[in-house]
Amino acid sequence: MKFLVYGALNIDLIFSVDHIVIPGETERCVSLEKSSGGKGSNQAAALAKAGMDVHLAGKIGSDGAYLLEILHPFGVNTDLVKIWEGGTGNALIQLDRNGQNAIVYYPGGNGAITPEEIEKAMDAFAGYAAGEEGMAVLQNELPHIDLMMKAAKKRGLRICLNPSPCDEKIESLPLETTDIFFVNEIEGASLAGVPRNGGAGDNKEILEKLVKRFPESEIVLTLGKEGALYGYKNTREKGGVLDYPVVDTTGAGDTFTGYFLAARARDFSVRESLAFACKAASIAVSEKGALQAIPDAREVF
Ligand code: RIB
Repeated sequence: MKFLVYGALNIDLIFSVDHIVIPGETERCVSLEKSSGGKGSNQAAALAKAGMDVHLAGKIGSDGAYLLEILHPFGVNTDLVKIWEGGTGNALIQLDRNGQNAIVYYPGGNGAITPEEIEKAMDAFAGYAAGEEGMAVLQNELPHIDLMMKAAKKRGLRICLNPSPCDEKIESLPLETTDIFFVNEIEGASLAGVPRNGGAGDNKEILEKLVKRFPESEIVLTLGKEGALYGYKNTREKGGVLDYPVVDTTGAGDTFTGYFLAARARDFSVRESLAFACKAASIAVSEKGALQAIPDAREVF
């Protein structure tokens, strides 16, 4: 399996704070670090660290060129990342003392990707993957996700969709063409049309409604410290996280996605793949940063 991750590359600015600010409040932060992130970049790094053949497509400014240097040692092919005259995406991350975060982002180059670039990148990847199974791994930080999904299907690629961040655009996508979804509770509840009341039964209900709504798609529902649930036709599985200290949850979902896909591509069962992905995410939250906290294959498999 060859992977094309078409997604955001961001300069992550991590403001370590006591607590996430409330409206009208000003808070002095404990430290400020410049790091590497973006859901596309993180997921590509996770797949590559897990031993997969990965191309990353996206758009950055010259201020983000160093992001590519960070990705290359992991083996991520970045030939399809364009450099434009504008800036790189920035994510402003408040990281509180419990390792929880709140993120606002400025799209920069991520928001300037054009339909022509998408067609060209898909052609280039389809040529590269010819004769082998290929998968397009998409998130919702870029524009034209609908075009990406159509372009990927047209070229015979499987589609993995992580509809994050979840917004009103999601329902206009050709969702039924997704082969595998990765959703957290908020995204899952929104797609399933389930009001969230925090009850223990919510997650199972979300999963069942998603399996019913998308009968041809595998559903992976990530639940933070509760682990993850999987549903596809009559198969149901569950994975649990390991007991690592929580330092920073940023990018944990991206680590999970990369490792689950990689484990499946390496022919592990769904149950085993959930266990590996949960382990990888548990390790990732025990270190600060998104991309830099992703463990390598030797630590996980
Ligand atoms: O999923 C985590 C990522 O979301 C961060 O790295 C940040 O860049 C935001 O895009």
